Amino acid sequence: MNASTAAQAADIVAALLFVFSLAGLSQHHTARAGVAYGVAGMALALVATVVVAGRSVSGESIALIAVAGAIGGAIGLWQARRVEMTQMPELIAVLHSLVGLAAVLIGWNSYLEVEAQHPGSTELAGSLLRIHHAEVFIGIFIGAVTFTGSVIAFLKLSARIKSRPLTLPGKNLLNVSALCAFVTLTVWFTVSPNLALMIAVTVLALVLGWHLVASIGGGDMPVVVSMLNSYSGWAAAAAGFLLDNNLLIVTGALVGSSGAYLSYIMCRAMNRSFLSVIAGGFGVEAAPSGEQEQGEHQEISAEDAASALAGATQVIITPGYGMAVAQAQHPVAELTRRLRERGVTVRFGVHPVAGRLPGHMNVLLAEARVPYDVVLEMDEINDDFADTSVVLVIGANDTVNPSAMDDPASPIAGMPVLRVWEAEHVVVFKRSMASGYAGVQNPLFFRENSSMLFGDAKQSVEAILRELAASDPGPAAGSGRRPAEQPAPA
Ligand code: TAP
Repeated sequence: MNASTAAQAADIVAALLFVFSLAGLSQHHTARAGVAYGVAGMALALVATVVVAGRSVSGESIALIAVAGAIGGAIGLWQARRVEMTQMPELIAVLHSLVGLAAVLIGWNSYLEVEAQHPGSTELAGSLLRIHHAEVFIGIFIGAVTFTGSVIAFLKLSARIKSRPLTLPGKNLLNVSALCAFVTLTVWFTVSPNLALMIAVTVLALVLGWHLVASIGGGDMPVVVSMLNSYSGWAAAAAGFLLDNNLLIVTGALVGSSGAYLSYIMCRAMNRSFLSVIAGGFGVEAAPSGEQEQGEHQEISAEDAASALAGATQVIITPGYGMAVAQAQHPVAELTRRLRERGVTVRFGVHPVAGRLPGHMNVLLAEARVPYDVVLEMDEINDDFADTSVVLVIGANDTVNPSAMDDPASPIAGMPVLRVWEAEHVVVFKRSMASGYAGVQNPLFFRENSSMLFGDAKQSVEAILRELAASDPGPAAGSGRRPAEQPAPA
């Protein structure tokens, strides 16, 4: 077997490993194996690519590839080690932007390379050359849309710019016109390629990417992240065509289609139309909420919250982004265990877009060893709130906002939410009356059956644990087990 055949075989094995990786990542208990398959596939793909490249380039170039790989790997490792779980979506947006930028640069490089060989001619290679030019144009277009779209997503997710949707007059018409201009330019370029058209499509796609994502409101960012994931996959596949790299085409198509499927799932969870997301700018033009008078809110102390919990029979905990920020999952798991020991039924209601990543809350709760069987999806638990004594809203806001159901002018109107307000008593853990990610005030906080427990969620839950320990009914009434970190009463 020569080096080229071995590299082709390695490509096929790597592609299969990527398929196994995606399959593994779809379940909690196989996720680790999924990551391992992905790493193995990527390592194999890198070796195979360098081996193939080694046949046509000098040893010096191979050394340069190795140095670039080492620098890139070191930066990746450094970033992965220091990134907080809450910053993952921002990091992913940055990575998507790099894929987009790479596709643009590969497109330009490929055009300039071919031009250098056959300046200004479409006659030499006939239709093959035209196909190449179309590939260059499409690759640059998808890459540039992904690049600026991801940069805007990064700026919004990291709160460097406001997450409110940009609403230019006739924004949908602008998007459609940009797409029509792209099709026209592509046809023109395949017939008569020139530098001016290359510049025109690059600028057009950069502006379109910016506009598509800038037009989308904060509450809808989960869909944008998965959509950009899909775009970055298609950009990589386009680059694969230009580089004549089959594995890159396959991998790009896998990322593109799995990202598109994830976007579809997120759209269903958010009650949004998939087509309108692809078209971009589905943020609702509404008066910013939170400026209307909402009334008075009530506060509750950790001591009173503990007695409400001690007297409850059914408790539901709805975690949100604030639980991740506070890293409150461990005391929350401990609270769950203590209440269950006292005979209270405790379950979790997890909204599909709670936190900042798909599955964010599930990962945190699994890390804190909350049993899977008490962690329920929104649809599984939403009808049970009415029979619940106490709901603990731990750092959640948009995902428990009744205005999504009651206020058609709200930017999050139509998004399904956890109907926590139907419970007897709702305790909201947060630090202030500030709005959530979508920038919408939450009328839940002002309802008669809601009380605010202000402070860092971790400290508040720990304070409740101390109160419960102090009022522990002892071995006769409960299990009598006292957690190791709690000092025994004098
Ligand atoms: P959010 O609406 O983001 O609200 C989180 C709340 O946590 C805030 O109101 C904040 O209030 C509170 N908080 C922050 N730090 C805290 C701390 N240390 N202790 C206690 N509370 C703290 O949360 P959510 O309900 O999970 O909704 C998620 C939002 O993010 C949705 O709008 C969703 O569309 C969007 N989003 C989701 C994703 C994915 S895929 N899940 C991706 C991007 C965007 P204070 O500041 O007053 O404490």
